[in-house]
Amino acid sequence: MSFEFLTVERRGAVEYVTLNRPDVRNAFNEHVIADLTAWAARAHADPGLRAVILAGAGKVFSAGADAAWMAKMAGYSREENARDAEAGARMFEAINTVPAIVIARIHGAALGGGCGLAAVCDIVVADEAAVFGFTETKLGILPAMISPYVLQKIGASAARELFLTGMRFDAARAKEIGLVHAVVPAENLDTTIDRYVSEALSAAPTAVARAKALIPRVLGRTTAEVMAITTEAIAAQRVSAEGQDGLKAFLAKGKPGWVRD
Ligand code: COA
Repeated sequence: MSFEFLTVERRGAVEYVTLNRPDVRNAFNEHVIADLTAWAARAHADPGLRAVILAGAGKVFSAGADAAWMAKMAGYSREENARDAEAGARMFEAINTVPAIVIARIHGAALGGGCGLAAVCDIVVADEAAVFGFTETKLGILPAMISPYVLQKIGASAARELFLTGMRFDAARAKEIGLVHAVVPAENLDTTIDRYVSEALSAAPTAVARAKALIPRVLGRTTAEVMAITTEAIAAQRVSAEGQDGLKAFLAKGKPGWVRD
């Protein structure tokens, strides 16, 4: 499978996915959305994939939605805009639910939908000089498709400040509100990501996928509903081959079969 605006490099169980429109700071349009959606569909069907690093080529991670594409959209009907937005929403959901551990590598800037891409990743590592912002209201539009994912990360309070003003903020603030997990100097970005990748490769793949799927199922439910989901999930995993292998290896102080060095 080849992509127009993505470069994808496979190293064992790890895939390095790079947004590749550096001239427009990796802004995304319908073609980038199609590429990312197709990549995510492939990742969903790939049980050998354990970790993904999503990065941006050139000076920044992503400047969000392509302004030229949005300007074109302004001439489209409301129905055409809805269809287009739906393709974007499907892309975010497809990445959000990739069963492998997805790590965002943020340098330079993540703005608008670029922040949305960070929000659908499991782990976000940022260069300490990176700039963030939900800049949509500055352009007269809305952080709509990204909002469910961003809200799960940053909560309503930070969203009210940052969605409404569209103000830019730094990596330290992004970490404080839960959008980013690690903030490091640029020269340490890749070694920090390598450490997360080795953690990912020592976690049981089915357990990872199930733990990831559990999070949205549990959020927003009553304790009684949650208990039914969580007890069912842990019971199924404990009796699985993977669960048995992991517990036995732990007790024997050995390594379970899924660990790759
Ligand atoms: N859509 C389309 N093109 C974009 C873009 C976007 N979202 N963001 C940047 N570009 C283009 C610029 O128009 C410029 O094109 P040109 O070389 O033809 O003039 C090129 O990318 C470089 O932009 P520039 O601002 O000079 O780069 P920079 O490295 O100094 O700054 C950013 C990078 C991302 C900080 C800056 O471009 C920016 O703030 N962009 C706006 C992002 C935004 O608000 N997105 C929200 C969309 S909802």
